Amino acid sequence: MIEEISALRQEAESFDIHDTATLENFRLHFLSRKGKLNDLFDKFKEHRGDDKRELGQAINGLKQFLQDRLDNGLSSFQKVAVTHTQEDLTRPSGAFPLGHRHPISQIREEIIRIFRNIGFAVEDGPEIEDDWHVFSGLNFAADHPARDMQDTFFVKDAVDSNGQPLLLRTHTSSVQVRVMENSKPPIRIIMPGRVYRNEAISARAHCQFHQIEGLYIDKDVTFADMKQTLQHFTQTFFGKSEIRLRPSYFPFTEPSAEMDVYWGLETPADHRITKGTGWLEIMGCGMVDPAVLQASGIDPEQYSGFAFGMGLERIAMLRYQIDDLRHFFENDIRFLRQFNA
Ligand code: PHE
Repeated sequence: MIEEISALRQEAESFDIHDTATLENFRLHFLSRKGKLNDLFDKFKEHRGDDKRELGQAINGLKQFLQDRLDNGLSSFQKVAVTHTQEDLTRPSGAFPLGHRHPISQIREEIIRIFRNIGFAVEDGPEIEDDWHVFSGLNFAADHPARDMQDTFFVKDAVDSNGQPLLLRTHTSSVQVRVMENSKPPIRIIMPGRVYRNEAISARAHCQFHQIEGLYIDKDVTFADMKQTLQHFTQTFFGKSEIRLRPSYFPFTEPSAEMDVYWGLETPADHRITKGTGWLEIMGCGMVDPAVLQASGIDPEQYSGFAFGMGLERIAMLRYQIDDLRHFFENDIRFLRQFNA
């Protein structure tokens, strides 16, 4: 019987205990009611002989050893055991952190909604364009500075089917040309999109930004229609109804204008952003040049129209009083979180 006791002790010493499950196996195998230790005690009770005292001490020594291993295991795995019992698996999980749209996207959607409500449809076009859609089709002269490498990004070694260079569009007006070429008036569209210009990056300028363009062509469209449409927009978007149109120049509109909104001079910030005038420049606009209609296959004797275009970053900066345009492209979560609509 003494061999049996030492065999069991060896087994207990080499038993691998490394977590609560193996610890429980250990307990069941050696120390439970039907375990090995109880078997041994049963045999001991039956035992008759002179060595009973010696055997009794050996079994008690084994029992102590088994109990110590169990206690050690319990204390080292106790933490795990406690958190397990405290965890309520039926508890509803915590809320997922929900993201939201980028402020530029929010502004874009808001402007689109205003124009949709008065019958404008949304169109888009490619960001890599050809010379015709960005310049020639819009009446830009061959030596216009926008065509200079200093102002426009050209795609290296890439030309269109006419051998003209491919470039990154510098304005969304290229979409006007695409739509005029492919559809008949009445045309009533807005065209949001990203544009690129070779500018030094600063608080006021970036080499990429967003514009939203509008185009309305039908019979008898006048300058008054344009003015009313733009006033409706500024009234709805900014809550300001006083606008003015200052003469300006674009190759593709005639006459051309810059539209300003009367912002007011109530706060120090108003003075700062309007440079003390109360007026803010919002967008470029004008009556579509008859040469542009003609180039896209629309008869300027029958149809007339207006176009306008504005920079979304600029609009967002005014709306939210943001002082640096670079914030929009840096994806700093501390900036973006402030626009959780
Ligand atoms: N395309 C012009 C620009 O990028 C804006 C504009 C659009 C002006 C439509 C007039 C009409 O500056």
